[in-house]
Parts: sequence; structure tokens; C-alpha cells
Amino acid sequence: MQQHTGTKVEAGCTQLRCIGCGALHKSPGRDFRCTDCGDLLEVTYPGWKCVDAALQPQQLRASWSERRKSNAYADQSGVWRFRELLPASSAPASLISLGEGNTPVFELPNCARSAGVEALFAKHQGMNPTGSFKDTGMTVAATFARMEGFHWVACASTGNTSASMAAYAARGGMRGVVLIPEGQVSWGKLSQTLDYGAVTCQLKTDFDGCMRVLDEVVQLMPVCLLNSVNPYRLEGQKTAAIELLEQFMWEVPGHIIVPGGNMGNASAIGKACLEMRELGLISRLPKISIIQAEGANPLVRAMRENGGKKLSPMRADTMATAIRIGNPASWKKAVRVLEATSGTVEQVSEIEIALAKAEIGADGIGCEPASAVTLAGLKKLVKQGFINRNESVVLILTGHMLKDPDFTIKFHRGDLFSDKNMEAAILKEQQRAPIVLDANPQAVLKVLEQA
Ligand code: F0G
Repeated sequence: MQQHTGTKVEAGCTQLRCIGCGALHKSPGRDFRCTDCGDLLEVTYPGWKCVDAALQPQQLRASWSERRKSNAYADQSGVWRFRELLPASSAPASLISLGEGNTPVFELPNCARSAGVEALFAKHQGMNPTGSFKDTGMTVAATFARMEGFHWVACASTGNTSASMAAYAARGGMRGVVLIPEGQVSWGKLSQTLDYGAVTCQLKTDFDGCMRVLDEVVQLMPVCLLNSVNPYRLEGQKTAAIELLEQFMWEVPGHIIVPGGNMGNASAIGKACLEMRELGLISRLPKISIIQAEGANPLVRAMRENGGKKLSPMRADTMATAIRIGNPASWKKAVRVLEATSGTVEQVSEIEIALAKAEIGADGIGCEPASAVTLAGLKKLVKQGFINRNESVVLILTGHMLKDPDFTIKFHRGDLFSDKNMEAAILKEQQRAPIVLDANPQAVLKVLEQA
């Protein structure tokens, strides 16, 4: 996409570089892949090397902090507030924003105890306007799609990307089309997509099948692809890490733990950390680790079998439907992040996910199942000695608790796992089923006595 000038954020002068062969591209093709080798593209900022004081760490921190007091449209966004580290848009009025970002960091004292660490935090990206981290990327990618003159935007999704894209398309006066796997998207997410007005196509396949169909659709009609292969998405998603470091007063945590699905998020957070170090905003890197569900673990397999040189697509299955992905698009970017930050990968079982989700809920926070893999993974990494008890850890919670209430209700009622096996017994402690009573105070008091 071409450069837009006339703004005060000249440092955002960008190039698109292929992560495979390094070729530079002025504008991306419809599939956002390198026309020379087919690999993914990433946004780079040659302007940073030649621009002046605007990119001094002290100056950046001061501007970002100052903007928190501003009521200007661009400053109210927890993404565009960091615009020096984003591709430049032409003017604030051209932004499509819902006031995304600005998400809280919470301490998780009970989860910390159960995982065996002293300081555990959650950066809750589920507190974004449509309830997931996707909004931080969507504001940038949707803005650029509209600047390029697209009337249609499209994505394949396990539910959150589609909800987010549908909202930003509607706000930006564009039409959205989403391809989702039939029967594999939670009602919360599906209902959002319908209400925001996207054309919603439920395909009789899985997420990976939807992605394959979409790749062909974008070649056949002028529609802007807003999946995370679109590198502008990842630029927006970077801001979660920048905002986190700002909330940590620029003290780098020991570890950041991210769920792994299509791998865009881990790639974005890693890119942000590397760029913050390059700009002198931080002096060292946190270790970034990626957790997958056992039934959807292509990256874990690739790292264990061949050190991340080759990824074999698999048929994915997990109740954490957001990360039911067997052929992740951004896996190479994710491997680079693991290598650059000395992070690791781990996989967790369905029972471990359910237990971790209820524990995050019991700390008064809550999240959707895919986000809970982070706590489940943390427990394993502490047991293995990869994480020490005195290191600070941040879990990236990617989706809001209300995204998938079916899962939560089934869990607490004891209906999530059909085989009531031995392992399910360990869930009992976290299960808090509703209690049906006669409508009298004595019945309620009796329950309270026992509680
Ligand atoms: N957590 C949630 C809640 C998600 O919705 C997703 C991905 C992930 C984690 C994984 O992030 O793909 O960047 O590695 N959801 C996509 C979607 C695939 O279509 O909504 P990732």
C-alpha cells in the first residue's frame, strides 16, 4: 500500500519486506504474500533510522503519556496513541477506531499460587470493544483497506476475527464477508458478526478449509483480506506489548505467555518487543512462549520434531474453538520470535484448559477458553523449571469470558466432558454449579451455612 504523507507521524514511513527472501514490495498483492517466493510480508520502518528526536525513547514515552489526557479521536485509541510505531495514516479523520486498546493489566494472586510463581499478571485483551485482541489489529488493517479504496473486506475465522472485522467494516462504511467453519464457532462470536451486519457464510469445513476458500475468493473479486496474513493487522496488535510495557513503567517482565492459533498475535507481540529494544525503549527482551491445545498443536510438533524448520499441517480439534487451527499462517514469524526471545512452546490438555479457565474466573477476571491455555501452560513451564518462581510473568488473555458462555456453563454443571473419567474428578474443586432452591429464605440460608 502506498505511502501517505501530510501527517505529523513521518517516522511511520514503511516498507513491506518478505520474511523469506527479503524482497521489498511497494504494495502487496491481494493475498499479502511475496510475489517472488510466496512467503509472508512484514512492515518495516526504514524511516526510524533517519528520523530525528521524535523517536528518542524519552520523547516517545512523554508523547504517549501526554495523549492519555487528550480527547482527540486518534489519542483515545490505545492503538493510534502509539502511532510513531505504526504505519502512517493520512489524517486522524481517516482512522476507523472504536477506542480499542487501553486494556487493563490485572494481578492474579490465586492463579499465581496455584502456578507456583510470586508475581503473575494478565494483560486482558478481551476488554477490547468487540471482546478480543483482534480489534487492535483491525483498526489498522481496516483503516488501510478503506484508504486503498476497498468497498469489501473479508476474513476466515474461528469467530473473533469475524466479529471484530464485521464491526470495523460497519464503522468504516465497508461491507464485510466472513467465512466460518459450520458448528465450530461459539454463539457469542457468531451473534456479534450477524448483528454488525457482515455477510456470514458458514462453510462445511474447518478453519483451515475456510482459509483455503478465502484465498481463492480474494483472487476473484476486489476484496481486502483482513486475516493476520495482512501485515497491517500485526502492526496494530503490536501495541498490546507497547501498552503493557508502559503499564509496567518500562520494567521488562521475565516472561510473556501467549496462546497460539494462527500465530499472528505471538508474532506481533514479539515484533513489538524487538522494535522497542531497537528504539531503546527497553534494554532486554522478555521470553515469549506460545501455548497450544494438545489437539491443535502443529507448532509444538514442529519445534520438537525439527526445531521449527518445517511445519506439517494437521487436523485440529479442541474445545478451545478459537485456536482450533491445524495450518497456522504465521508459524514462521512465530518461530523467529521464539528464537529471538529464547521462549518455548508447550501444549495443554482439554482438562488443563478447563481448570485454568475456572481459576482465572475465580480471580475475578475470566476469559474465554483459548486464553486459558496461558495459565495451563505456565503451570507446566514452572514445573519444568523453565520459569522460576521469582520471575514476573504476564499472561495475554485474548478473549472475553462472555464469548463462550456455553463452555463455562457446561463446565460448572459437570457436562463438559462426556466421559466422567478419573481426571474429571480434579475439576470438581473449581466447579460451581447453580443451585436450584424453593423460593424461601431458609433454603438460601441453609446453602450459605454450608458454603
Ligand atoms: N485467542 C483467541 C481468543 C483467538 O480468537 C485467537 C485466534 C487466538 C487466541 C490465537 O491467536 O491466531 O493470533 O495465534 N482467533 C482467530 C480468529 C484465528 O479467527 O478469531 P493467533
